[in-house]
Amino acid sequence: MGQAVAWQDSEAVVAAQDVVRTYRRGATAVEALKGITLVIPRGRMTLLKGRSGSGKTTMLNLIAGLDRPTSGRIQFQGREISGLADAELTRMRRQNIGLVFQTFALLPTYSAYENVDLVLRIAGVSLRQRDRRVREVLALVGLAKRMSHRPFELSGGEQQRVSIARALAPHPSLILADEPTGELDSGTGLAIVRLFRRLMEEEGVTVCLTTHDAAVMALADLTYEIVDGRIVGEVGAGHA
Ligand SMILES: Nc1ncnc2c1ncn2[C@@H]1O[C@H](COP(=O)(O)OP(=O)(O)O)[C@@H](O)[C@H]1O
Ligand SMILES: [Mg+2]
Repeated sequence: MGQAVAWQDSEAVVAAQDVVRTYRRGATAVEALKGITLVIPRGRMTLLKGRSGSGKTTMLNLIAGLDRPTSGRIQFQGREISGLADAELTRMRRQNIGLVFQTFALLPTYSAYENVDLVLRIAGVSLRQRDRRVREVLALVGLAKRMSHRPFELSGGEQQRVSIARALAPHPSLILADEPTGELDSGTGLAIVRLFRRLMEEEGVTVCLTTHDAAVMALADLTYEIVDGRIVGEVGAGHA
């Protein structure tokens, strides 16, 4: 007790094995992922680091069930997802995964409150429960006083906080964030990564993000470095 376990000892939220994704571009084939094997341990912050074009987004899309591997296997919470039908995959994602994007992807005419509320409405949550949860997650990300602002009335960092609140609202077990600091200055970006760390503690959510920013690495528990569709390095063993 009192000492955190190394990630090797913690349960895997995601386990990917020999994942290959080949895109067809006319007559040529682009091998975006060339056999990725990785684990996203529960309760740890995992980073996929690599240059533009290395395959990070492709990997996140596969984990989220937005795309399917050409070969290889992906398990989500112990369940093989590669073979699921589209409807089941969508249900799995809606129930378990929150997505955060580089460009925030907020609805421009909706307020912060409405952007977060929409995902809970889609999930069929009652009005009263929705109202409580929307206020709760917006307060968690530090936007209690900005709930009625629309995206254009918010800074980039604030917009990303709205999108994180939206991802968090349905109580996902995993948040996948694709270059969440990519549009932000470095100080604001680091604040966003620190926010993820706090949410991991306060909400028990596991976070996996992609970046090409080396400074973000210092805040992660586990970093996989991807070059040209392959993992070339693995750094970190939790807070052992
Ligand atoms: N839909 C697609 N069709 C064809 N090639 C793609 C597609 N998406 C990605 N790629 C290619 O796959 C490789 C990996 O892309 P991506 O996963 O977006 O990398 P990253 O997110 O690390 O920048 C790149 O060579 C990219 O051009
Ligand atoms: Mg990308």
